[in-house]
Amino acid sequence: MAHIDGVAKPYLVCGGFPAGNSWIFLGPRGKVEIQGANAALAALLPLFDGMHELAAIIGSVGERKDVLALIEMLIDHRIVVDANHLYRHFQAYARYPSLFSMGTSHEENVANYYDFSHVPQIHGATTALPVASTGLSRLLRSRTSCRRFSAASVDEADVFDLIWSMYGRQDEPGPPAEQLPYLTFTVPSGGGLYPLFVYLLLFRHSGKFEVGTYLWHKERSLLEMTSESNPLPAAARLVIGVAEAAIERAAGMICIVADLERSAKKYGNHAYNLALLEAGHLMQNAALFCTERRLGFVELYGFLAEDLARLLESEPPRKSPVVAALFGKADSSDP
Ligand SMILES: Cc1cc2nc3c(=O)[nH]c(=O)nc-3n(C[C@H](O)[C@H](O)[C@H](O)COP(=O)(O)O)c2cc1C
Repeated sequence: MAHIDGVAKPYLVCGGFPAGNSWIFLGPRGKVEIQGANAALAALLPLFDGMHELAAIIGSVGERKDVLALIEMLIDHRIVVDANHLYRHFQAYARYPSLFSMGTSHEENVANYYDFSHVPQIHGATTALPVASTGLSRLLRSRTSCRRFSAASVDEADVFDLIWSMYGRQDEPGPPAEQLPYLTFTVPSGGGLYPLFVYLLLFRHSGKFEVGTYLWHKERSLLEMTSESNPLPAAARLVIGVAEAAIERAAGMICIVADLERSAKKYGNHAYNLALLEAGHLMQNAALFCTERRLGFVELYGFLAEDLARLLESEPPRKSPVVAALFGKADSSDP
């Protein structure tokens, strides 16, 4: 009953309905049909509200083997999860391609894009000023997503500085991390916990950096090669919605993996929101860096998260890829 032991406060997260002698659930991995347990499920399911201790629930329905097996099955299929550990499962429910995506047509997406009803009405006095022309405002004005790359490699310094700008020590390389009371980085982080990892998938040789997969050690300001094999074929298969030819011409891909357990020790379920907010900071730094160095950059949410986790050998749900990006020399013929 190891799975049962890991769930203190069970919470029902997937809808289900009785159908004849079965109860049908729509779990994150698809349909789950449980036969011959409708009476037990009708008694149990309302108790999985995230407020009650599992031990108390089992006590109230009677500690029978069939009930324990039933609960274990619900937990195994992630129909019931621990209310304190919901953050571990968000990725499974919202993964790409999502079980619960809206599935809208192209026409509906276009209509939604041009629907300006969300733009707030003006009811009060208004003020506007000209935006000052500064280095930053000029960068912000020219930031754009690039989906056409030139198949050229990127300078080694640009590769390294890109990763540093995302998640680098401000006193880089600085004294050994262990000797400092705390470290400061290029981005803020909830509670100063810095729960993210940056991976570099390099498709094209770049000075000192051979083709391969790298893990950024932000505390030591260095990149460690974790795999020598070319990550391009696997990356091209797992990205959704960007043409394979475009990916093949990029210099590489960066991936952000969140260590959800680190922030969850302090913030519980908020760890997931924090991870996404913080990943956005890294991505904005990367986008602005690429704009300044005249590199193409496109952020990617469209990827098969489980395949990417496998490629990076991260262990979801504890360590889940949350966002990625392609970068490289932009194709100057791109309109
Ligand atoms: C969180 C996030 C995820 C994105 N995911 C993708 C993606 O998977 N594929 C893609 O082609 N563009 C992706 N984009 C880029 C947007 O499509 C793009 O920013 C938007 O169309 C506006 O265009 P611009 O960046 O050139 O101004 C993503 C952007 C963000 C912020």
